[in-house]
Amino acid sequence: MPPDAPPRTSRALSGIQPTGRFHWGNYFGAIRQYIDLQPGAHQAADEAYYFIADLHALTTVRDPARLRSLVHAAAVDLLALGLDPERAVLFVQSDVPEVAELTWLLMTVTPMGLLERCHAYKDKKNRGLPADAGLFTYPVLMAADILAYDATIVPVGEDQVQHIEVCRDLAGTFNHLYGDVFTLPNPRLVEGGAKVPGTDGQKMSKSYENTIEVFEDPAAQKKKIMRITTDSRPMEQPKDPEGDHLFELFALMAPEGDRLRMADLYRRGGFGYGEVKKALVEAAAAYFADARGRRAELEADPGRVEAILAAGAARARARAGDVLARARRACGLSRGEAATGKGRRP
Ligand code: TYM
Repeated sequence: MPPDAPPRTSRALSGIQPTGRFHWGNYFGAIRQYIDLQPGAHQAADEAYYFIADLHALTTVRDPARLRSLVHAAAVDLLALGLDPERAVLFVQSDVPEVAELTWLLMTVTPMGLLERCHAYKDKKNRGLPADAGLFTYPVLMAADILAYDATIVPVGEDQVQHIEVCRDLAGTFNHLYGDVFTLPNPRLVEGGAKVPGTDGQKMSKSYENTIEVFEDPAAQKKKIMRITTDSRPMEQPKDPEGDHLFELFALMAPEGDRLRMADLYRRGGFGYGEVKKALVEAAAAYFADARGRRAELEADPGRVEAILAAGAARARARAGDVLARARRACGLSRGEAATGKGRRP
């Protein structure tokens, strides 16, 4: 950038799939960052765009009524967890059809080999499951999601970093061919939350059936917590809290003092994992108590939630429309404007 150029706007953007209710991995890896990056928050970006990725969810949810209800529930959850529609743009992915057209433009510069290496497709193929073209080209849609808003920061968990690399690759190729059209984004991960463990110690994920949902009924949630796997070392033996998934979960939501006391207890030994689990039940209840209250209020006012999504979609479409027009002009899809430089970023 030349020294006298105005600083570029920092714009956070991220998407989350409504394939089930949000779990602790979604919250501590991604949603908590969405909140922190909203304008006015302590690590604020200049602008923030967050969307519910219903087009991506279509590769797994095939029941229309369920998809509709999951999308609405996702909006309620995000608002209850602190997303503020006055400061961030909240919308549903499919309400911005410009993104689908942009996906096609990007598809024409996407090498097959790049997609063959992407993990969502590779994992499914390795498990012998049939994969459709939607799953195969999923990272291209995700790239369009990001590039359509000139996003600079993409808050995500570790599992999405590969997809952001793909996005940067595709944007780089397109820019190389057609001029400076797209902004290259960077992923943003949080320390301690980039890979939240599930009840079995693997990464928490719907596909591993090891999730604990943020707004799960408290009794069901307690049951799951009490069933978190632990090792079989005797109670007397001192243990290292680092790398213990039960402790890791506790540390995410316990106040600092409780976390230090618990780490100490681990190092001294002479305690049972049952005690830690009970402490985790209480820490989770306290951590999400306010959000549960807000959720109940929002649930009682579906009209308000839908109005927020409609307003968000209008704002998102305006921006994506500009970016798409730029991309169309740059690659020769708009007649009469060739060689005027209008395809370039202002
Ligand atoms: P999705 O819906 O699988 O997950 C949403 C967000 O939650 C994070 N996450 C985790 N973080 C830490 N530990 C875990 N155990 C854990 N599980 C999930 C994910 O990393 C993600 O940030 N492809 C995306 C959705 C998407 C998107 C985008 C994201 C579509 N377009 C554009 C960013 C930008 C996905 O499937 O996320």
